Amino acid sequence: MFSSDDLSSLRWDAVSGAVEIIDQTLLPHTLRWVHLDSLEAYCHAISAMQVRGAPLIGVTAAFGLAHAIAGDPSDHNLELASARLLATRPTAVNLRWALEEMARELQPRPLKQRADAARKRAIALREADIDSCSAIGDNGLALLRAISYRDTLNIMTHCNAGWLATIQWGTALAPIYKAHAAGLPVHVWVSETRPRNQGMNLTAWELQRAGVPCTVVADNSCGQLMRAGEVDCIIVGSDRTAANGDVCNKIGTYLKALAAADNNIPFYVALPESTIDWRCADGGGIPIEERDPLEVLAIAGVDAAGQGLEINLAAAATSAANPAFDVTPARLVTSLVTEYGVFAADSAGLARLKEQLGIAG
Ligand code: MRU
Repeated sequence: MFSSDDLSSLRWDAVSGAVEIIDQTLLPHTLRWVHLDSLEAYCHAISAMQVRGAPLIGVTAAFGLAHAIAGDPSDHNLELASARLLATRPTAVNLRWALEEMARELQPRPLKQRADAARKRAIALREADIDSCSAIGDNGLALLRAISYRDTLNIMTHCNAGWLATIQWGTALAPIYKAHAAGLPVHVWVSETRPRNQGMNLTAWELQRAGVPCTVVADNSCGQLMRAGEVDCIIVGSDRTAANGDVCNKIGTYLKALAAADNNIPFYVALPESTIDWRCADGGGIPIEERDPLEVLAIAGVDAAGQGLEINLAAAATSAANPAFDVTPARLVTSLVTEYGVFAADSAGLARLKEQLGIAG
């Protein structure tokens, strides 16, 4: 029934128009597809992190807007639905980017054309994301081929920047999938990514399904692995990268970049152009999402019978803070791997990309 393949985080049916996403809060224990059939369901999917990862958040919002416009194509509803979707999560700029792409497509059109145009644009954004991630994979693979290693090419990653975070391929994981397919002897150090454990729950699950050798490690072990010579390079994704090359990504990325610099390990950031916020001069302007402290104080999992359970880790009334992202200064980033090639993580490197794309300003 669904026209898009199984290894895809969001699928749509060409005949019925139905859109389904994988509920990522249930992984790795349960693979459940959820049908999104209202604007509320789309907003909930993003804010409750059933879908997450910057590119997937953007594509999901585009389909959410298309859903809202099918019911009421007025300017008023376009603004209202966009505002509701935009408010779901603050950090990943792909959300704003996708909604602006949709608005640019819809605003000049007469009302009767909008529903069809919105759906087509959302589908096109989904397809474009697949192509971008595949190109990031090719460009990243060229970098990986140039790294010297002993028997195994040991790559470290953080959080989940695989196909679950995009539509297919991923950003940071795309070069790894392509390297594995090309026969490079890759092994991935997956840092668990407290407090929500996207590394352990999502990245390890993805890599295992694909047959890519990987080992989960506690976030705190990453510096020691680097010092011990067990890491040949690091690749992470990004939620928003500023025009000077400062990279915002999942909390804990900055510490890895510091340790990588201290150990002379290349630190690559893989991202589509839609993750670059050209209006943001540096990382200081990026909004950092503060999430519920309970995510730090409790941990969710399943018991021996596979039943979901949540365990409190801290004493009652313990207070916690939960910033979900951090900013890695551009000087710690070896290069930015995009669908348009590899660029220096600095104002000059990104200006070169801007010029290549013909973006004004
Ligand atoms: O809070 P999340 O799970 O949405 O955070 C995701 C990340 O930080 C990813 O590294 C980033 O979005 C890149 S996804 C290709």
